[in-house]
Amino acid sequence: MDPAVALLLCLSCLFLLSLCRQSSGRGRLPSGPTPLPIIGNVLQLEVKDMSKSLTNLSKVYGPVFTLYFGLERMVVLHGYEAVKEALIDLGEEFSGRGHFPLAERTNRGFGIVFSNGKRWKEIRRFSLMTLRNFGMGKRSIEDRVQEEARCLVEELRKTKASPCDPTFILGCAPCNVICSIIFQKRFDYKDQQFLNLMEKLNENVRIVSTPWIQICNNFPPIIDYFPGTHNKLLKNIAFMESYILEKVKEHQESIDINNPRDFIDCFLIKMEKEKQNQQSEFTIENLVITAADLLGAGTETTSTTLRYALLLLLKHPEVTAKAQEEIERVIGRNRSPCMQDRGHMPYTDAVVHEVQRYIDLIPTNLPHAVTCDVKFRNYLIPKGTTILTSLTSVLHDNKEFPNPEMFDPRHFLDGGGNFKKSNYFMPFSAGKRICVGEGLARMELFLFLTFILQNFNLKSLIDPKDLDTTPVVNGFASVPPFYQLCFIPV
Ligand code: HEM
Ligand SMILES: *[C@@H]1O[C@H](CO)[C@@H](O)[C@H](O)[C@H]1NC(C)=O
Repeated sequence: MDPAVALLLCLSCLFLLSLCRQSSGRGRLPSGPTPLPIIGNVLQLEVKDMSKSLTNLSKVYGPVFTLYFGLERMVVLHGYEAVKEALIDLGEEFSGRGHFPLAERTNRGFGIVFSNGKRWKEIRRFSLMTLRNFGMGKRSIEDRVQEEARCLVEELRKTKASPCDPTFILGCAPCNVICSIIFQKRFDYKDQQFLNLMEKLNENVRIVSTPWIQICNNFPPIIDYFPGTHNKLLKNIAFMESYILEKVKEHQESIDINNPRDFIDCFLIKMEKEKQNQQSEFTIENLVITAADLLGAGTETTSTTLRYALLLLLKHPEVTAKAQEEIERVIGRNRSPCMQDRGHMPYTDAVVHEVQRYIDLIPTNLPHAVTCDVKFRNYLIPKGTTILTSLTSVLHDNKEFPNPEMFDPRHFLDGGGNFKKSNYFMPFSAGKRICVGEGLARMELFLFLTFILQNFNLKSLIDPKDLDTTPVVNGFASVPPFYQLCFIPV
């Protein structure tokens, strides 16, 4: 068929489909801006800054409203009350994952991030347990993070106090922690296999951040019939999966059931235990995709947060000095920082929290879906509806955090300098889908940053007053603007 005719046919079908979708079951959905056929509300949104668009719309339509993103109907929740009522009070009902046609192609419903139902529950529970050291054998997760932190400091030392862009090195460390957990061993930062893996992960983050991918997700027929960067994405994922599968095979040959070395060993042991069960979720496919999910979800998030943290520390030398004073006092210079120290380091703990609050890494969370028809406030949200939650509206709430646009660790300190917890601290989301790597990520952020500040003074190339810390929003993550710094050994 002539591609132009195919396109026309395809568009007409989408048009009809969108008319049907919009007219069906709108009765008890919250109101929202009037959508156009096919494209929905995209003209009323600034796709480059979804979070700000949602905040603007919430001023007109309130904390709960409906949006059409292309063909997809979404209910938006804005502000702590609505987000908490859904994700926590109605946790089970709101625990579905919103659908991503592209991910359905790559993950095919396996793994954790894009799975649902019984499979998601079982794989998620297993992964949480394993990441909490249950069954991970002799080497604790903390051990692995500390080992990586030492290597990170050595790598930074090699920059010899000359100006550098920290992106690459700060990208290696979190990736390597996940590698150590999944594949048992960390890699040298020059190892070709490691560099290939990082390269594919980074390229995928770049691709996923482009508007083209949004278009693919909202007009799924494109995925199969059009060329485009999404094909590169699929290829990269296939590459990573085959690499993981190769590692799984090596593990199968060398496994000692009584001494699991890593995540793969733990999973294989679980598979063996459940081998009589025809419906078992512990299959090679789920193992491979879960491992890919952990790499995909755990690398860029943590490394971007670290890179942003250093920028904020450069911008606020008085904050850095206080944290370094605390590190000197509690840990000194002659031993490595450990997680036990955190309880004695309220200021540094507050700095790490404030970094995560301020940068608001994933402003509109990952989309959820309701798992059944659910009554929410005065509305009835039909099963399967996509739910978008604004984490920005929680992290930048101006009552809980006065001057929310200011970076200020006092947002997490009481008058006496003690650490002050906040229920509004939701950079990892909340409820049943809350980030599986929360504990690991917080461990990495605390240890990597204290190791760095224990060993180096940070020097900006320009006057800190002139450093710009406003995020460059790309796709669904906030990333820091480009900058350089020097690591001066203390
Ligand atoms: C600073 C670092 C990180 C941030 C800010 C972060 C944030 C998030 C957020 C907002 C979600 C979506 C939660 C939801 O759907 O409600 C998520 C999900 C997830 N994260 Fe993280 N994350 C980080 C690091 C990690 C790490 C290190 C890992 C690896 C162990 C990880 C693994 C996952 C997984 C597997 C999911 C999917 C959970 C599910 O769907 O049940 N994340 N993360
Ligand atoms: C939000 O509203 C403000 C003020 O009306 C406007 O300047 C800004 O462009 C809007 N931003 C987005 C992303 O819609």
